[in-house]
Amino acid sequence: GKVAVLFGGVSAEREVSIKSGTMVHAALIKQGVDAHLFDPAERNVFDLKAEGFDRAFIALHGRFGEDGTLQGALELMGVPYTGSGVLASALAMNKVRTKQVWLQDGLSTPLYRVLPRGTDVAAVTDEIVSALGLPMFVKPPHEGSSLGAGKVETADELQAACELAWKYDTHALIEQCVEGRELTCAVLGHGETAQVLPIVEIKAPEGDYNFHNKYKGNDTVYVCPAELSAEQTTAIQAMVLEAYRALGCSGWGRADVLLRASDDKAFLLEMNTSPGMTDHSLVPMAARTFGIPYEELVVKLLCDARL
Ligand code: DAL
Ligand code: MG
Repeated sequence: GKVAVLFGGVSAEREVSIKSGTMVHAALIKQGVDAHLFDPAERNVFDLKAEGFDRAFIALHGRFGEDGTLQGALELMGVPYTGSGVLASALAMNKVRTKQVWLQDGLSTPLYRVLPRGTDVAAVTDEIVSALGLPMFVKPPHEGSSLGAGKVETADELQAACELAWKYDTHALIEQCVEGRELTCAVLGHGETAQVLPIVEIKAPEGDYNFHNKYKGNDTVYVCPAELSAEQTTAIQAMVLEAYRALGCSGWGRADVLLRASDDKAFLLEMNTSPGMTDHSLVPMAARTFGIPYEELVVKLLCDARL
């Protein structure tokens, strides 16, 4: 059948998605799939069915692509799609809701506070600093690729960091900073047969894995499989699988994890339900280490597409 590779879109991660989609499309073509790029920012996604597409590969990141809304449209049209369904996509797109689900299931995630846009930050700074300590991270709950996110080293920086986050979102998520190693771990499949890939460690310049170091620079070092003991690897992979199932994810996903230096305790940061597929991206790297080349990965994801 005819496959739409949905890419681009209107989110702040559009540029990343264009890279992901272009690579996914090329790989599918190479595998003999009748794949066509389709940018919902330029064409009406509700025309997909009428245009004869019978399957969609979602290579969109962020809002209106990764957040359950597009998944809902595809459900309504009856077009099977890659990745998680409506609910898991919506939950995972919101870092606050994600944390609430994980905490409910006894999974560890850094302590946090949430401030709605317009909050008098000065009035709550003391309480937040005493609860979370310094430094802290401030993020818009619905963004990816570190957009709108910032590290707060001193109490007086909190206001500006919240204002930046509020440019992207109605709320600012303020998280305790876990000092340690930065890891990521992908999952393929769903339910009982879901499978974890090798863990990747990210060593970014100055420990800052920001937008530039994610996609532009070549100074970030990735180690896959991450140098961890067998016990640590197994424990982190088990935690990630639980985190994936807790949100009800399917198809694929990638959890970002911090391993605290002081006691080797692992903390879940977030789940990406439409992970990057660029040449700098981590799921393709982990899959390759696992023995699944890029082309095979995209075909597998496409075959797992469902309603
Ligand atoms: N949000 C980016 C695309 C990722 O998680 O890979
Ligand atoms: Mg993300």
